[in-house]
Amino acid sequence: MYRRLIAPGALAASLLLAIPASAADFEPGAAGIGDPYYPTYGNGGYDVSHYDLRLEYQPKTDLLEGTATILASSTQDLSRFNLDFGLTASEVRVNGKKARFAKSGVQELEVTPAAGLPKGTPFTVVVKYAGKPSEVKLWGFTSWQRTPDGGVAANEPEAAAWWFPSNDHPRDKATYDVSVSVPDGTQAISNGTLQSQSSKLGWTRFNWRSSKPQATYLATLAVGKFDITTDTTANGLPVVNAYSKDLGANEGAAKASVERTTEVAEWLETVFGTYPFEALGGYVPNVPSSFALETQTRPFYSPKQFANGSNVSVVVHELAHQWYGDSVSVDDWKDIWINEGFARYSQWLWSEKEGEGTAQELADYVYAQHPADDPFWQVEPGDPGAENQFDAAVYDRGAVAVQALRNAVGEKKFFAILKGWPKVHAYGNAGVSDFVRYAEKVSGKPLAGLFDTWLYQPVKPAASALGALSA
Ligand code: ARG
Ligand code: ZN
Repeated sequence: MYRRLIAPGALAASLLLAIPASAADFEPGAAGIGDPYYPTYGNGGYDVSHYDLRLEYQPKTDLLEGTATILASSTQDLSRFNLDFGLTASEVRVNGKKARFAKSGVQELEVTPAAGLPKGTPFTVVVKYAGKPSEVKLWGFTSWQRTPDGGVAANEPEAAAWWFPSNDHPRDKATYDVSVSVPDGTQAISNGTLQSQSSKLGWTRFNWRSSKPQATYLATLAVGKFDITTDTTANGLPVVNAYSKDLGANEGAAKASVERTTEVAEWLETVFGTYPFEALGGYVPNVPSSFALETQTRPFYSPKQFANGSNVSVVVHELAHQWYGDSVSVDDWKDIWINEGFARYSQWLWSEKEGEGTAQELADYVYAQHPADDPFWQVEPGDPGAENQFDAAVYDRGAVAVQALRNAVGEKKFFAILKGWPKVHAYGNAGVSDFVRYAEKVSGKPLAGLFDTWLYQPVKPAASALGALSA
């Protein structure tokens, strides 16, 4: 039975008014969620709670097709709304009824429901679609990487629009069921837990569930021929790692790194508190790119990350993001320092633990490595600009800022802040100014000056700004 949910306000309105509110009172949702770096990312007027994707992917042709069912709720009287999407929709329904839809530019799908959606109404959108993701260029590029035996959706900040319609911004998190059918002998990897898999008529369907709020860019899909290892942590969480069967000389180093996921997560728990998700893992597809990404519960690693032998440090980085980035996500993309500064700093803490250099030594090294006239110091990690979102300064100067905080507040308060932040904002969103306030509250010290120096000045700070230990 289909139970139509009606918000109390909407119910009252429909009972009190003899005639329904005129369509003129309803307005289109904004084409962007309001991120200053990326005005068209995400959309206004609604909030998604769940994505159900039922897809089929044919590696031979790169054809992805299927149905997305989106559970959402209106946040204004809504006459029309946008989804961020680059493939081709063939039918859109809202609450079961056919809706009008049109492409606006290459990456926006405009949906006009048969009837307006009063503010606070839960609603269901069904989008039937198809397309070849690698051929779709949004913002002039593709984020879908085709491989000899499949394809992969993993990128930041843009990944979702190549494979499913969404409200594509970290501020609107949702849970996911991702079901993907692929030719027998091929696997589909996604976030969370594999609920089941079954084969018929030459196709195998993999049903994945990610049950904690997840940002759209952290949703991933990898299709290919993988070696899969499965295990359970001491706490009973499932661990699923996947390695392309085609990693060549990097296979050993990839496995020697990603197989340490459980050990690294256990150590990170001592620094950041309880691991926030229901599953763990990592996957290494045979892509030519050279980055890694903290896709929720199951980070993506390019084979090139392992070209020089094992690289546990990158595993530390991507797993640290599960707390700093995935559970607690940026409010706006300008808050990227909270993700990258702390993920880099966690690598320094790992180095400290392994006896390969303390965080202080690594901070001093970064400081000394970049002379005052190095453009490195012109990037402000607290507001780097869209073009510098992933500049080395966001990571390295960003981690020096964390060391400066440690020196200013002392060991006890510092580690209380590191562990407290993911707890107070678990599964939510927060920005740099929230972090500064939180650090001041926990430490009882005014820290605006310190953060201004390290995050918001386009110059190399004086050595004394790094704090007592390095002075
Ligand atoms: N969050 C990723 C990391 O540092 C950054 C990926 C950026 N690279 C890219 N091609 N978008 O682990
Ligand atoms: Zn990172």
